[in-house]
Amino acid sequence: MDKKELQEAIIKLKKEKNAVILGHYYQRDEIQEVSDFVGDSLALAQEARKTQCDIIVFCGVHFMAETAKILNPERKVILPDMNANCSLARSCPADAFSKFKEEHPDHIVISYINCSAEIKALSDLICTSGNAEKLVNALPRNQKIIFAPDKNLGGYINRQTGRNMLLWDGTCTVHDALTAESILRLKQQHPQAEVIAHPECNSAVLRVASFIGSTKAMLNYISKSLATQFIVATESGILYEMKQNNPDKEFFAVSADEGCACLECADMKLNTLDKLYKCIKEELPEITLPADMIQQARKPIERMLEMSQQLGIIK
Ligand code: 13P
Ligand code: SF4
Repeated sequence: MDKKELQEAIIKLKKEKNAVILGHYYQRDEIQEVSDFVGDSLALAQEARKTQCDIIVFCGVHFMAETAKILNPERKVILPDMNANCSLARSCPADAFSKFKEEHPDHIVISYINCSAEIKALSDLICTSGNAEKLVNALPRNQKIIFAPDKNLGGYINRQTGRNMLLWDGTCTVHDALTAESILRLKQQHPQAEVIAHPECNSAVLRVASFIGSTKAMLNYISKSLATQFIVATESGILYEMKQNNPDKEFFAVSADEGCACLECADMKLNTLDKLYKCIKEELPEITLPADMIQQARKPIERMLEMSQQLGIIK
């Protein structure tokens, strides 16, 4: 089947099976085109909680599909490619983290949603890049906090809030590979362009950015900004939505090395239309988790959603 036929077959199957396709902004364009809902981690978690469909087809990485399962234990959650993992989630193994937590019994644990279900189960509060700063600010000033797994996001939140959270030494290898030099080189070619960056980038990159935010925050910023050109320091999949929403503006993708045209998360790109079709047809591979882990991991996610609602971050 060609692309169009595959997309039509996916849409037909989805209706027959009462399935919903949730897609992250970093997914391939052709997957975003057939998704019922495209969003950032926070919006996808909300959408997963709301759905009445029998099957959730999660087009993203493993921890995102796990989050959907934790919020919907009674529904079937499937992921086109089970190997679509996340380097950041991998950088925080549960046994080592559990030891680290034991060494700091007076600290609460805030974990970025980009972590495994085991880490979520060890956490008091989950955050996303879209709500981390406001959630941390809402906690008492004297509260001791461990922040995991992303030291770049954690460092950024520390600087923004004036806190001194203890940071787990993890990174997203995709964002962390970006350098300020490569961005400045691009800026020389496009001096009018504004640099916008995801907080998973290292501090040198963040220093040269005029706007820092989650994928959704970047999209909002671009739509409101008077600038017409943007250097986008995050995964290039986001450019699809940026161009859709702002056809009159110009976007330049950054790359980590000179040989590659743009920054891509290889894990996100493991999901393809072919795999998506097969996944809905066979209802496999399916995300399964032990009931006690679901129960434990759900509490800090629910807490995040409740706090986000109270703080007016989400409706
Ligand atoms: P968002 O929370 O902005 O969607 O980011 C998720 C992610 O994986 C960034 O690399
Ligand atoms: Fe994980 Fe980085 Fe890929 Fe986001 S871009 S899913 S943080 S590896």
